[in-house]
Amino acid sequence: MNQFEPILSEETMYYHYGKLYQNYKDQFYNLVGDGVNPLEAVLKIDQFPIEKRGSILNSAGGVLNHELYFEEINKNGRHQPSNSLEEAIVKKYGSFENFKQEFQKVARYLVGSGYTFLVLNSKKELDIVNMSNQETPYLYDMLPIMNIDLWEHAYYLDYKTERDQYINAFFDLIDFDVIEKRYDKATKTA
Ligand SMILES: [Fe+2]
Repeated sequence: MNQFEPILSEETMYYHYGKLYQNYKDQFYNLVGDGVNPLEAVLKIDQFPIEKRGSILNSAGGVLNHELYFEEINKNGRHQPSNSLEEAIVKKYGSFENFKQEFQKVARYLVGSGYTFLVLNSKKELDIVNMSNQETPYLYDMLPIMNIDLWEHAYYLDYKTERDQYINAFFDLIDFDVIEKRYDKATKTA
């Protein structure tokens, strides 16, 4: 049994982490060469030849979005926020339970492939936003705090057409130790 079962199977993790995420990394470094950071590539996309920009954004986003996702899932992690993040969630959404329901509702609205993100927006407030394909919140002056991968490859082997079941189960995988560190770092970023 892996550390994600029964929410995500070993087969899903093998293909998702082992193959698809690796493919995004390979694509990115094939496009830009070694030594380039995916976030810097997104923030300085104007520096690349115009014909390559779409592919670079897609592969850099694929690396960044999957990094967040695979870092934050852990069945044995802490599934409740605390400290400053809990305060911010309660301030914005009233309670953690309300936040969860809102996040799940926004996730259900996503059409096609993409992600739902909890972000810190340019006003330094929490927000829940959907992004298509491999778009990243950095492109819109927002800092990602948490995400759920809603591409079919993330859940189809385990949930088939029942995407809502995956969205509901996902909160039992989120490790708020990781999410809180990101939140605290984001609030300190100018
Ligand atoms: Fe994915």
